[in-house]
Amino acid sequence: MSEQPRLQRLATSMEVSKRVAHRFVAGEKLSEAVEAVRVLNNRGFSATLDYLGEMINNREDAAIARDEYLAGLDQIHEHRLNSNVSLKLTQFGLGLDEEFCLKNVEPLIVKAAGQNNFVRIDMEGSPYTDSTLRIFTALRKQYNNVGIVIQAYLFRSEKDIQDVLQLGGRIRLCKGAYKEPPEISFKQKKDTDRNFIKLMQILLKSDVYHGIATHDPAMISATREFAQKENIGKDHFEFQMLYGVRRDLQDDLLKNDYRVRIYVPYGDEWYSYLMRRMAERPANLIFVMRNLFRG
Ligand code: FDA
Repeated sequence: MSEQPRLQRLATSMEVSKRVAHRFVAGEKLSEAVEAVRVLNNRGFSATLDYLGEMINNREDAAIARDEYLAGLDQIHEHRLNSNVSLKLTQFGLGLDEEFCLKNVEPLIVKAAGQNNFVRIDMEGSPYTDSTLRIFTALRKQYNNVGIVIQAYLFRSEKDIQDVLQLGGRIRLCKGAYKEPPEISFKQKKDTDRNFIKLMQILLKSDVYHGIATHDPAMISATREFAQKENIGKDHFEFQMLYGVRRDLQDDLLKNDYRVRIYVPYGDEWYSYLMRRMAERPANLIFVMRNLFRG
């Protein structure tokens, strides 16, 4: 459904689907996302702002994405919000030209550094893993306010983690959201979970501040138990979750004094984001349907 343009046009024009999307997307405009972050901050969560979009196919759109993120950083700074930003390099032109992409994203890191803020580079599908890590490495050698994401479902991830740790880089660990071939990735949930726990332990034992991004109660428990056993303080790492997903777990962690950062997506590209969330968890589809029929 995320790749059907006609369906997408129809759905995005319907007021009702916009209302439903609000559960998982903060809004179409930056001002709405800023308001959502403010509300989260007031409740005790930190945030990371994501201007939805990926795979742009011309340089003008890559420049528009950069300018939107620059404006986002200014808003965060101006409103004194506890939020950084997360971005996808294909939205900054990675699919067009690697050098162009690097130059397009660099001003963001520079601005964030001046505002004492941080930029997280999301990890996309495996055709982009190497180039994403190359750009991250080039940036990390110059700036310490840039971090990366590593996906537990890829066989290569332990080695990638060692490389990033050598640079002192901050990592967000997640399971991975793309459809990957069996030659390079775990296909069984139990294998991805086992690797997630192994990688989480490497991250927590390092001297760098990392993010553990999951809504899986088993992964959360494993993280909490390992941290307790190893005497790793609650301020040494943070949990990260998506806006609107498992709010019960988000609240519970906060109540237990863990740091929780919420990934707040916004923008008019919300349709494909929403469809990916549906694919991950069909129960979300039921949630959407229920709201659609309520009108
Ligand atoms: P898993 O998929 O095993 O689900 C475990 C349980 O969590 C489910 O049974 C359900 O209870 C709950 N759950 C999971 N997803 C849900 C949903 N959508 N709605 C409601 N409940 C849900 N991926 C990537 O490839 N690159 C990236 O850069 C990022 N970035 C990122 C940032 C943050 C903050 C998060 C939380 C996640 C990502 N991801 C990502 C996505 C990640 O790889 C993964 O696809 C999802 O988080 C789902 O995996 P879980 O670890 O949550 O558990």
